Amino acid sequence: MKFLFFRYNDGVTMAGETSPLLRTASPDDAGEASALIYETMGTLGDFLFGQPGRGESIRVVAALFRQAGHLLSYEHSTLAEADGRIVGIVQAFPGADLWKATLGLMRAGIRCWGLRFALRLGWRGLPLAFEPVAGADEYYVQTLAVAPSFRNRGIGRALLENAQRQTVERGFPVCSLDVLLDNTDALRFYQREGFTIARKVVTRLRAAGVQYNGFYRMVKRLDALPADANIGPHS
Ligand SMILES: CC(C)(COP(=O)(O)OP(=O)(O)OC[C@H]1O[C@@H](n2cnc3c(N)ncnc32)[C@H](O)[C@@H]1OP(=O)(O)O)[C@@H](O)C(=O)NCCC(=O)NCCS
Repeated sequence: MKFLFFRYNDGVTMAGETSPLLRTASPDDAGEASALIYETMGTLGDFLFGQPGRGESIRVVAALFRQAGHLLSYEHSTLAEADGRIVGIVQAFPGADLWKATLGLMRAGIRCWGLRFALRLGWRGLPLAFEPVAGADEYYVQTLAVAPSFRNRGIGRALLENAQRQTVERGFPVCSLDVLLDNTDALRFYQREGFTIARKVVTRLRAAGVQYNGFYRMVKRLDALPADANIGPHS
């Protein structure tokens, strides 16, 4: 297993902050990674994947995670380890690949669960397909999640900083992400990390038990920073 990044903690150190080990993911990480990815989906994931609840949806996400070439793949995942276990994940890739990665999810769905599964996913996700894709100048953070008992220790910040490092190293001027309109905690977290709201996207997705109203597209320009800048929180 290849370790890309070593422990770093060059932001503002706070009392009780955990310095996680960050490493690239492999298909073998599917079990723990899928539970973390599900944290960002909840009932929307149950609805899109046609599953009755958390356990079943996590099983679906785990199978998809092991496949290459789509939104939720291990391929573009970085994991955070603390206390000897996987406690956080960030998935990021070029914004121009977002549409391709979305279609890739359908293909991975066919491989894992058959055509019927993929058609249901496509049909139920159709309202989301009209949402704006990310720009070619953006490096897009698809997923950021930290295990509930490890939150508020700086692990989310370390993972987000990792995505920003990738943004700069891969030559993109902007790091971007979407946050659900009602996820006010995450919205505040991103604002603290220097991201600003670029647009509000309101989507009507009517399904029993699913709360999804749309998202804020948030961006952070990184091209104005010197190459050796500390990509930490704004004071
Ligand atoms: C959003 C999320 C990734 C943040 O991860 P995290 O590890 O808790 O983030 P951090 O610890 O780096 O920062 C979180 C907050 O704790 C504070 N904090 C950081 N280190 C701290 C410490 N050692 N002691 C106390 N507070 C600390 C930060 O200032 C921040 O405060 P804020 O909420 O006022 O902005 C996490 O809450 C999560 O997984 N949420 C569920 C999934 C989700 O909604 N993901 C986002 C989808 S868009």
